[in-house]
Amino acid sequence: MVYYPTSFGSIIYLMLLPLYISAKNDVGFNVNLIRKNTPHYNHNVLPLSGLLSPKEKTPQSPTYAYLGHYLMELSIGTPPFKIYGIVDTGSDLTWTQCVPCKNCYKQRNPMFDPRKSTSYRNISCDSELCHKLDTGVCSPEKRCNYTYGYASAAITQSVLAQETITLTSTTGESVPLKGIVFGCGHNDTDSFNDHEMGIIGLGGGLVSLISQIGSSFGGKRFSQCLVPFHTDVVVSSKMSFGRGSEVSGIGVISTPLVAKEDKTPYFITLLGISVGNTYLHFNGSSEIVSKGNMFLDSGTPPTILPTQSYERVVDQVRKQVAMAPIIDDPDLGPQLCYRTKKNLPGPVLKAHFEGADVTLNPIQTFISPKKDVFCLGFTNTSADGGIYGNFAQSNYLIGFDLDKQLVYFKPMDCTKYK
Ligand SMILES: *[C@@H]1O[C@H](CO)[C@@H](O)[C@H](O)[C@H]1NC(C)=O
Ligand SMILES: *[C@@H]1O[C@H](CO)[C@@H](O)[C@H](O)[C@H]1NC(C)=O
Ligand SMILES: *[C@@H]1O[C@H](CO)[C@@H](O)[C@H](O)[C@H]1NC(C)=O
Ligand SMILES: *[C@@H]1O[C@H](CO)[C@@H](O)[C@H](O)[C@H]1NC(C)=O
Ligand SMILES: *[C@@H]1O[C@H](CO)[C@@H](O)[C@H](O)[C@H]1NC(C)=O
Repeated sequence: MVYYPTSFGSIIYLMLLPLYISAKNDVGFNVNLIRKNTPHYNHNVLPLSGLLSPKEKTPQSPTYAYLGHYLMELSIGTPPFKIYGIVDTGSDLTWTQCVPCKNCYKQRNPMFDPRKSTSYRNISCDSELCHKLDTGVCSPEKRCNYTYGYASAAITQSVLAQETITLTSTTGESVPLKGIVFGCGHNDTDSFNDHEMGIIGLGGGLVSLISQIGSSFGGKRFSQCLVPFHTDVVVSSKMSFGRGSEVSGIGVISTPLVAKEDKTPYFITLLGISVGNTYLHFNGSSEIVSKGNMFLDSGTPPTILPTQSYERVVDQVRKQVAMAPIIDDPDLGPQLCYRTKKNLPGPVLKAHFEGADVTLNPIQTFISPKKDVFCLGFTNTSADGGIYGNFAQSNYLIGFDLDKQLVYFKPMDCTKYK
């Protein structure tokens, strides 16, 4: 059975847990993200078609191996043990595979062993928190077993625990965060690849790292600058937390976050998409669009649109590209792809969010799943809303200000952003 993070909208009792962020700081900090290099083509994990099952009301964050992930390095426990997790603004729980692992996916690096850490604490299933989690159940040892699922059908069965998590800032300083609630995964399906040691949950729900850090670093906000996957230079993407992560200056635009019952996703409102000079209203059948029809997700590579909108975008791109699309490659499925050594010269797309028109150049629009092939980095869902994926988020400094409830976009060459 797959559980989806949407069901965790009501975790209000998390605040009862003592969280001991070690120091109250007025300044924030920056960390580097590791971008997976040129994606390996793998049909099973190609993110561009048919990932979302029709029964879902809102699309979820799929997790894929091999293509399209940004990893964050952090240390867990005392003494610190290094892990690399997928940065995911579309889910809340931070987890890693732990010893003993009954049924874990293959992992290149050693796994975290809670018995070797002096700061590890089990969360009892008697605690309010465990009962409030829809999938929290009591283990025979009275520990809080917790199941967390993703749209890719990946699943982690964790024991909910508290630990010291230490981030390393870009200036080399350690940033210890004490008493962070995380999942010690003891049974994880193999939809992850062997570099990935878990997930860093940066969503808006109460169990997320962002919510747990709160305002400890001078404001509840963070920003990211993701380097596109098709960049040859080896350079890290960046994330900033707290004070100093404000996105300001020339070219900054912003759009309101939309609060919904599900607190995890960062919902924003997409009014329409332009392909070249052609404006396509998000809801073709009506002028009305529902507020918060998309969410920003660093854990999902493609942008996912409701089928009608998706088809109109595809039609326009097809009309405006002079080349003939590939129709004879079964690997590529139904996606719109072109045979070309270099990325397409256009068209330029614009995502018209409420109050913010975000330009998408070919580097953010077309991705190369295999040599000499470029495909539109969009896919579709039967749901009413969609996901603004990480291909489209690259080369923008994107700020999430949770105090002001705004998302900021500033065009940026993220290979040069410090
Ligand atoms: C809880 O998790 C532990 C460790 O994975 C497992 O041995 C136990 O069977 C689980 N219990 C329940 C009730 O799921
Ligand atoms: C956590 O729970 C497990 C199983 O009950 C136990 O073996 C372990 O010692 C506990 N760890 C701590 C630090 O209490
Ligand atoms: C691991 O999780 C899967 C999926 O929920 C379940 O079918 C299986 O029984 C679990 N295995 C163990 C050893 O707990
Ligand atoms: C499209 O508009 C109709 C009203 O005409 C509304 O019921 C529906 O929710 C809208 N769909 C989206 C995806 O905004
Ligand atoms: C995606 O779009 C294609 C055609 O463009 C359609 O056949 C398919 O059913 C759609 N998938 C979903 C999940 O809506």
